[in-house]
Amino acid sequence: MTVVSEPQLPPDQIARLHRRGGELLPLASLTHDGGEPPAEWVEALAALADRLGQSYPFADAQYLGQMLKPPHPVAWAGYAMAMLLNSNNHAFDGGPATAHLEREAVDQIARMLHQETHLSHLTASGTIANLEALWVARSLHPEKVVLSSAQAHYTHARISEVVGARHETVPATAHGTLDLAALEERLQQGGVGTVVATLGSTGLGMLDPVDRIADLCEEYDARLHVDAAYGGFFAILADGNAPGVARAPFDALARADSIVIDPHKHGLQPYGCGCIVFRDPAIGHLYNHDSPYTYFTSDELHPGELSLECSRSGAAAAALWATLRAVPLTRDGLGSHLASTRSAALALAAQIRLLDGWTLVLEPDLDIVCWHPTRTTASAVSVATDIAFQQLAERGWHVAKLVVSATDLGLEADQPTVTVLRSTLMKPEHAGIVDEFADVLATLTLGA
Ligand SMILES: Cc1ncc(COP(=O)(O)O)c(C=O)c1O
Repeated sequence: MTVVSEPQLPPDQIARLHRRGGELLPLASLTHDGGEPPAEWVEALAALADRLGQSYPFADAQYLGQMLKPPHPVAWAGYAMAMLLNSNNHAFDGGPATAHLEREAVDQIARMLHQETHLSHLTASGTIANLEALWVARSLHPEKVVLSSAQAHYTHARISEVVGARHETVPATAHGTLDLAALEERLQQGGVGTVVATLGSTGLGMLDPVDRIADLCEEYDARLHVDAAYGGFFAILADGNAPGVARAPFDALARADSIVIDPHKHGLQPYGCGCIVFRDPAIGHLYNHDSPYTYFTSDELHPGELSLECSRSGAAAAALWATLRAVPLTRDGLGSHLASTRSAALALAAQIRLLDGWTLVLEPDLDIVCWHPTRTTASAVSVATDIAFQQLAERGWHVAKLVVSATDLGLEADQPTVTVLRSTLMKPEHAGIVDEFADVLATLTLGA
């Protein structure tokens, strides 16, 4: 992506970072209180505050670019509290409290995903969670192929390579979802072990028809892995009420063999918090290994006996557990955050449809909205998109860009791909800025 402006936080946020560093240092021990920190520690944090100032304003509503936002205050404080112990969720030996907190938190998440008897744990990220899912898939069907769609996250092809699984890509429809006809055709040829479906595609934020994919997987005896890293928490809104999301793909999660969900995306957590859920606890035997250094304090299976990573952050589990206690996985809890982000996306899509000179790429399934200046050719759209991106940045609005197929958008394909604008409206505050943002779009001057 072209850098159009140097990343820079507003001065008040830089000043706050400086203050926070000073305020946090005296709190950093569980064995004693406060005291005057050494000058070089204070200086190091001041230098850090200056460096962090060279960031885009991720906490602001005017940042609606990539999939990121600061964590919930309870997650932030819970993480900091638990870091005073810095426990290790590899084993009950290293994380006696936090390993139990992890179990309780992932159980709530698994139930939200309609998985009642499950084997689940936190991971460092969605990528590692997908790695575990595809490693299990490959272990169960070593000779068979993993299929994922052209709109699935790039990780599936790469992770398949890492775990030594054969991988093939199934085309996506112009609607950005896995093409069911193409999937069935490939399944008929045989040799497919696992199909990856996505709930909340990274680019367009679309929902694959997991229910229909589950039917096909059943018919052709393939495993179903659902990558819900981005969209998984929207299961709370898949209840037929408004604002809501399509119900069938989320109901079908009950039929998935494995599901990835990222608490560090829509679960209000700091980075370092992915999650893998397996439907069948019996796959646990695949993780069997010996560890002559740990596993002494309990006869219960330790978390490290059921995950690929060894050391894992106990603080991440503590932060998630505390957040779920304060913001439960209900319509009134996390659902109210998601309802705001979903409403913001619907409102922005409606505004763009009304604005002269702009074209909506697709009606959003979740809270990601993509659109572009109205032009007839792919090259003209791409040029105008770049200008719009630049002008928005100059006015303090941070969006992202996405490259998609020109023919999928019905454009004259004088080049195969086209660049469009993409925004992730994942902060509840976004609901309050849609009208203002649409007014700004109306004032951009993009040329012919
Ligand atoms: C659908 C999907 N899967 C997987 C990933 C990778 O997750 P992580 O960045 O946590 O490794 C992403 C990241 O954006 C994603 O959107």
